[in-house]
Amino acid sequence: MPIDPILDPSVLAKELSGYHLINGKLVAPKNGKTFDVLNPATGKVIGQAADGDADDVAIAVAAAKAAQKDWAERPARERGKLLAECGRILMSHAEELGRLVALESGKALRTESRVEASVLADMFVFFGGLASELKGETVPFNPNMMTLTTREAVGVVGAIIPWNVPMMLMAIKVAPALVAGNAVVVKSAEDTPLAVLRVCQIMQEVLPAGVFNILSGFGPSCGGPLVEHKDVKKVSFTGSVETGRTVYRAAAEKLIPVTLELGGKSPMIVMGDADLDKAIAGAIGGMRFTRQGQSCTAASRMLVHESLHDEFVKRLIDKVNTLKMGDPLDEETDIGTIINRKQFDKVCGYIEVGEKEGATKNELSALPTDSALSDGLFVRPVIFTNVDPNARIAREEIFGPVACVFKFKTFEEALELANDSDFGLAATVWTTDLKTALVATKRLEAGFVQVNQNLVVQPNLSYGGIKLSGLGKEASLESMLEHFTYKKTIILNME
Ligand code: NAI
Ligand code: MG
Repeated sequence: MPIDPILDPSVLAKELSGYHLINGKLVAPKNGKTFDVLNPATGKVIGQAADGDADDVAIAVAAAKAAQKDWAERPARERGKLLAECGRILMSHAEELGRLVALESGKALRTESRVEASVLADMFVFFGGLASELKGETVPFNPNMMTLTTREAVGVVGAIIPWNVPMMLMAIKVAPALVAGNAVVVKSAEDTPLAVLRVCQIMQEVLPAGVFNILSGFGPSCGGPLVEHKDVKKVSFTGSVETGRTVYRAAAEKLIPVTLELGGKSPMIVMGDADLDKAIAGAIGGMRFTRQGQSCTAASRMLVHESLHDEFVKRLIDKVNTLKMGDPLDEETDIGTIINRKQFDKVCGYIEVGEKEGATKNELSALPTDSALSDGLFVRPVIFTNVDPNARIAREEIFGPVACVFKFKTFEEALELANDSDFGLAATVWTTDLKTALVATKRLEAGFVQVNQNLVVQPNLSYGGIKLSGLGKEASLESMLEHFTYKKTIILNME
């Protein structure tokens, strides 16, 4: 039965309250427990999330395991067509999904949430089209032996997702996993359980029951049992380095493969010959100021050649000052709120640390004046200048609207500064010189390197980091083949 979009996100939030989605149906948790879901722009309760635990995990994994066999036996393109159909239906729900995720996450509808909803839909269309690429090879082993490889589904995949781009980050796990013939159990993030539940509910219109299940709950009590469940054969995780390590350890006990997409402290090198207009626009987009900097790819270390430094800082400040903070659902709003009180305290704590460390604080934009938003978790964007490269604000992931700008003299110094990080997710270089661009792309230690632009995750482009930024790739054909299938070698002796 087609589901009609519900454009009032408060109504939709209540309708989805208190449920997991298991085996095609919205179900309450076994223990009957729920927790509040808040609108971070007002502090008001908008609904409830099921407080799932190991019992619910067991039910969901059993449903997934039962459904997976038939799903994997369908022709690959049939699965692909169903996933592409999900993408088209999700696109017709993009407005309601955008509004719901704006309500629960505090991300502005116009600049962020609506965009996320359409990328989510596009990811399903994209991966749906890759079904026929689940190919193997023939191997020239012995003329008397036909030797070939096939790509096999791993079985039940556990996916643990964060709150910053919940629908899109879920899509880049669920879509390739399903197309490859796996069944999936997702554990949503505590702060954003509703929009992803709605996505899963909408997809039930097309998918067989049990192939895509979603649980809400807390990390240790629901995410932990999912990783540890004996029938979960692969885990894909996006979130913090610390939790990534916990997940990796638990997976090591079972010896199952893991994909980890963790933090970042991405450098942006602006050379003296850069086009400054482009670099400023790239800094605003790259730093994700409109997402309150809550991005693993945020260009939070801006390294600017001394000849452009002062002009760059001045223009960046002017531009960030034009961004309007306000109600995430208001079309005029550019910047919404931080996700929750804990992150708010963390970000504010880093801003204090930065001042104590002696950096110059430029606090920008204006807090909203609407009294309905007086309890909202708004943080004014901060650009720190005169930052010591060894300061905590220069080295640790803040995950908030806080950028550090550094001055450099030589290209060599810029590359060294850029690579002097525990992280290696993304990097950009801004230059009009071809040789500089080529040398930088070769030498920057990161999984995703761009010249004169700062795009976000794109369907078809492998995305993922090195060092503490994680393991493995997402969003591409490679991600589907390498991370959601295993290769089987088959030899037929014809003698
Ligand atoms: P987190 O890593 O604790 O949470 C991410 C997901 O992991 C959530 O669904 C959570 O419930 C789950 N989880 C937590 N503990 C778990 C456990 N023991 N076993 C299994 N699953 C577990 O991140 P959190 O606390 O939301 O944010 C803290 C920091 O993490 C942020 O300040 C930021 O630096 C980083 N982060 C990075 C993200 C990225 O896109 N790479 C996304 C979100 C946060
Ligand atoms: Mg919330």
